[in-house]
Amino acid sequence: MIEVRRAELGEVEAVREIGVRTWPVAYGGLASEEFVVDGLAQWWSPEAVERGIRNGITLVAAEGKDLVGMVGLGREGDFWVMWKLYVLPDHQGKGVGKALLDAAVKALPEGTTELLLDVLVTNEKAIGFYRANGFGDPVSTPDRDLGDELMWMRLDLQTT
Ligand SMILES: CC(C)(COP(=O)(O)OP(=O)(O)OC[C@H]1O[C@@H](n2cnc3c(N)ncnc32)[C@H](O)[C@@H]1OP(=O)(O)O)[C@@H](O)C(=O)NCCC(=O)NCCS
Repeated sequence: MIEVRRAELGEVEAVREIGVRTWPVAYGGLASEEFVVDGLAQWWSPEAVERGIRNGITLVAAEGKDLVGMVGLGREGDFWVMWKLYVLPDHQGKGVGKALLDAAVKALPEGTTELLLDVLVTNEKAIGFYRANGFGDPVSTPDRDLGDELMWMRLDLQTT
């Protein structure tokens, strides 16, 4: 049984572990080794994970005592952005990602009209998952320049 709930501050290491185990597998064939090393250092440092739990919305999918997936959301300018959604490689394709996404949308403040995310343009698997779950092209986005490697996607919460 999978339970999706808020991450606790005492779980920084366990949440970090999900990124450390998932990133090299997910991005191994899609991005440079540098992207993985830099991304883990920048977005998955203990400090970054703790900030996400304190200041944003961080949810985990727990199977008994083990964490098998996580989702992290935060404010960026006027927008809510899903910064992280990761399911351990051997737990993918079993509905955990969908359960995390649904819980993330429910956890947003009432009246939130849209949710944005950025994804690697080469990550066809994730893009397919997001499209299947209602994400499409953005209308407007935060100022952050994504360069050529990443793209924005948007979930309209007014029609769902
Ligand atoms: C992308 C990811 C979060 C999806 O989570 P998941 O647990 O594997 O996906 P789920 O099993 O919850 O899939 C939910 C639904 O999406 C559909 N789906 C999943 N992958 C899909 C794809 N590539 N194309 C189309 N639909 C897809 C499933 O069929 C399922 O629909 P159903 O319930 O109607 O059968 C997960 O695979 C993952 O962590 N991947 C590696 C890291 C990554 O790329 N994260 C995203 C970074 S932006």
